[in-house]
Amino acid sequence: MSAPIAASSGAPFAKLLSVASFVPSRVVDNAEMCTWIDSSDEWIQQRTGIVERRWVGEGESVETMALDAGRRAVEKAGIEASELGAVIVSTVTYYHQTPSLAARLAHRLGTLGAAFDISAACAGFCYGLAQAEALVRSGAARYVLVIGVEELSRFTNIHDRGTAFLFADGAGAAVVGPSETNGIGPVVWGSDGSQADAINQTVEWSKALAGSETPYIQMDGRAVFKWASGFIADAAKDVLAKAGLAPEDLDVFIPHQANNRITDAMLRALKLPEHVVVARTIKQFGNNSAASVPMAMDALLTSGEAKSGQTALLIGFGAGLVYAGQVVTLP
Ligand code: COA
Repeated sequence: MSAPIAASSGAPFAKLLSVASFVPSRVVDNAEMCTWIDSSDEWIQQRTGIVERRWVGEGESVETMALDAGRRAVEKAGIEASELGAVIVSTVTYYHQTPSLAARLAHRLGTLGAAFDISAACAGFCYGLAQAEALVRSGAARYVLVIGVEELSRFTNIHDRGTAFLFADGAGAAVVGPSETNGIGPVVWGSDGSQADAINQTVEWSKALAGSETPYIQMDGRAVFKWASGFIADAAKDVLAKAGLAPEDLDVFIPHQANNRITDAMLRALKLPEHVVVARTIKQFGNNSAASVPMAMDALLTSGEAKSGQTALLIGFGAGLVYAGQVVTLP
């Protein structure tokens, strides 16, 4: 008989120890946006809830934003960067196919832990959180840094009136660590590749490299809207059910900041009580994909609208199409 292989064993539970974010310096309001597209401040606000969005300014990039948010998340968690057993970065806008942004950041933060990037678009932070929770509980890592970061402005066609007003930049980061009580509920996640064309890159890299066309992100807004306000609203209900909670047990709802009308459709489906605080940071941040959930979480905690120890439902969804959500205790 072959010798038994030792199994890893980790913490009984995992929880969020911290969250931090980086808000880019350049404010692009709807008036400036309407110098590029045939639209109006009124139309954009009514259809999406966006008043202004943040784009990278001088000296800011995917790497600087992720480093800043990541460093502050580690400080807030009260650990040393060297204790991070893994760094997970979710982004679809990093400019190097290889090596990963996570490996560069791990080095700059000061850890030799595992490091890898994931591509799960606007669901990316919740995908990373699910992996972090599993790593901590399996014993593969004691502390995990999860970063969602995007520089969508670089891949936005500012003359496309179907996307230009939505996309934005930013970074959000969180540290996940061991806990004696559960702070991260079961993930509900999945994909629907049959709708791969609903949000995608206009041209593949080989053509872009040949110099023929610049790749942008394009979208079938109506298809995404229908999927998000129907299927994803039901998925959010599943997240709550899998956590063994009722709508009344929630304090905070942090959906991906795609469109306030999608958030409203989810609220109708979830039948959340009045006391639940709902993230609406799309108003001043726009849709910054993988960064949107942790940026919204940090903004609500910083403003005092949400409090440490409260129970929050998170859900991300986007290009793939992919989605992921879980209930967490706020750090
Ligand atoms: N400014 C002004 N008018 C616009 C416009 C713009 N930027 N874009 C489209 N319109 C007009 C259309 O021409 C159309 O006019 P008509 O009724 O006279 O023909 C009307 O607005 C409706 O167009 P439609 O494409 O149906 O808009 P919409 O209501 O679906 O809104 C989005 C567009 C993009 C705001 C909406 O589809 C959306 O938010 N989808 C989800 C996108 C999303 O969340 N993506 C990210 C997921 S990660």
